[in-house]
Amino acid sequence: MPTYPHRALVTGGAGFIGSHSVELLLENNFNVRVLDNFSSGHLSNLPTHPQLEVVVGDIRDRDDVQAAMQGMTHCLHLAAQVSVAKSVEDPIGSATHNILGALNVMHAAANAKVSKLVYASSAAVYGIPAQLPLLEEAELQPLSPYGLEKWVDERYAALLGSLHGLPSLGLRYFNVYGPRQDPSSPYAGVIARFLDRLLSHQAPVVFGDGRQTRDFIYVGDIARANMAALLSAQCGICNVANGQQIDLLGLIALLGQLTNCHLPPQHLPANAEDIRYSCGNNQRLTEWLAIEPKWNLTEGLSELIHYVSKSHVAHDEPVNIRA
Ligand SMILES: NC(=O)c1ccc[n+]([C@@H]2O[C@H](COP(=O)([O-])OP(=O)(O)OC[C@H]3O[C@@H](n4cnc5c(N)ncnc54)[C@H](O)[C@@H]3O)[C@@H](O)[C@H]2O)c1
Repeated sequence: MPTYPHRALVTGGAGFIGSHSVELLLENNFNVRVLDNFSSGHLSNLPTHPQLEVVVGDIRDRDDVQAAMQGMTHCLHLAAQVSVAKSVEDPIGSATHNILGALNVMHAAANAKVSKLVYASSAAVYGIPAQLPLLEEAELQPLSPYGLEKWVDERYAALLGSLHGLPSLGLRYFNVYGPRQDPSSPYAGVIARFLDRLLSHQAPVVFGDGRQTRDFIYVGDIARANMAALLSAQCGICNVANGQQIDLLGLIALLGQLTNCHLPPQHLPANAEDIRYSCGNNQRLTEWLAIEPKWNLTEGLSELIHYVSKSHVAHDEPVNIRA
């Protein structure tokens, strides 16, 4: 048996989730090729490693994708236009990344006959939940082009499965947090933004009353789920959630305790595309991929605070939530 049998293309591998996933794949003896256009990812997120190759390219370009897919046995597709707000402002631009770009990757993966395609979907496909926690079978009513684009990706993946036998698993990540999430973007994750404000002794900015809830999952658990999904024979759709919700005021209080910075939030008007309550059922994650979240919120936040306090630079934009 060869020493390093798996060769995985990771699109968006220089980004937040991508770089953690790449690290874990390398630790597990994968050969990894990253395809990234560095629009939000950074080379400095990635280690120097003899089994890692980095290719600059764009998922919207068929030739880039086909060339990057050559010789690969697995594909983890993470590259995307990740902002809900941008998808509302520019739905066509967003769809070129999130539908056409994703289709380029899926089509190339089918042609290359990879043994598994895993791709990032999102809890944003659900929209307003009829009941919580959200099961994969729940009715989908996305509130944004971003959520709709991720749903279209799920449908394309299923179709390419029946047309070309492409084995795929779409992972509906809930709200991901952890080191390397960039707080300088106005669309950054809510935890990165709150923490950035608190560590600068500025009030965290909340859109609406702060009673909206989210299910936060640590990026290390997302990387574990991604790798397990690549190695699993399961196909279809699976939530990747912690299975617990907390409201934003509770989150700010917890961050206050952990950082010893207690500042009441500043409230701005609610965003129309914000979901009020969110919490995922992670039973399928456990049954299909044998993954239980390893970090609870306090543990994950402590890891993040440790990382951020070593390299903190303050930013001024208010927070938006995305999933
Ligand atoms: N972070 C979350 O809370 C969350 C939640 C649900 C789903 N997701 C999904 O997970 C995936 C990764 O998100 P992330 O949080 O790591 O974001 P990120 O912005 O850190 O990573 C995205 C990466 O993709 C690259 N990229 C963007 N457009 C590209 C293109 N056209 N061609 C090639 N590379 C391109 C960027 O440079 C970046 O490295 C995305 O598909 C996102 O929609 C994230």
